[in-house]
Amino acid sequence: MTVKVTWHGHATLSLDVNGQKVLVDPFFSGNPACKTNADNVEADYILITHAHGDHMADALPIAKRTGALVITNFEIGNWMIANGHSNVHQQHIGGGYYHPIGYIKLTIAFHGSSFNDGSYGGMPSGFLLNVDEKRIYIAGDTAVYSDMALIGRYGLDLAILPIGDNFTMGPDDALLAAKFLKAKTVMPYHYNTWPPIEQDCQTWSAQVRSETSSNVIVLDPEGSFTLD
Ligand code: NI
Ligand code: MN
Repeated sequence: MTVKVTWHGHATLSLDVNGQKVLVDPFFSGNPACKTNADNVEADYILITHAHGDHMADALPIAKRTGALVITNFEIGNWMIANGHSNVHQQHIGGGYYHPIGYIKLTIAFHGSSFNDGSYGGMPSGFLLNVDEKRIYIAGDTAVYSDMALIGRYGLDLAILPIGDNFTMGPDDALLAAKFLKAKTVMPYHYNTWPPIEQDCQTWSAQVRSETSSNVIVLDPEGSFTLD
């Protein structure tokens, strides 16, 4: 009974939940931090936080090839269906659902969510997953907000937070987020992909360790760890 977390660089994650593959925000093609070829990625589920290209560039081709169930907001779900992938479960902010793999809820994220052509991609989200008796919060692209403390009340095993600044919260606000969330383990993502979001993750993790009771895991792109 374990959850293996792999970071492919930027905001792209794979969770292996007892052999079930959960892909989050698939961005392999054009992702400078990533060595994985989108053509070889396995997926039983694909979670998409918002419609920006750096979060769903490869979502449609991987969904079509694997037949994965796409879990995302109503608007992105409609776009997937209109573009030929009908295995979609649409949810929205604050709403959770018991999927075969576990309970998955969409959380608030303060950001944008337009598609590349400018069309509307609904409200951006994060995800709160309760899988294999582990509670995992994936913040998505967001500013810090004090209601993260409410998410923390569920008791988190892992919180995955953007630290890149510029497009999302930066290191100082992500430290504040860690204080609201009180997760057992915190992991940074959405940084070092491009110059505007370059950050020193070691300094940040030392600060989180000294100012919170959370453990910090820093992965290299394509690195993994097991949550058990
Ligand atoms: Ni974005
Ligand atoms: Mn982004």
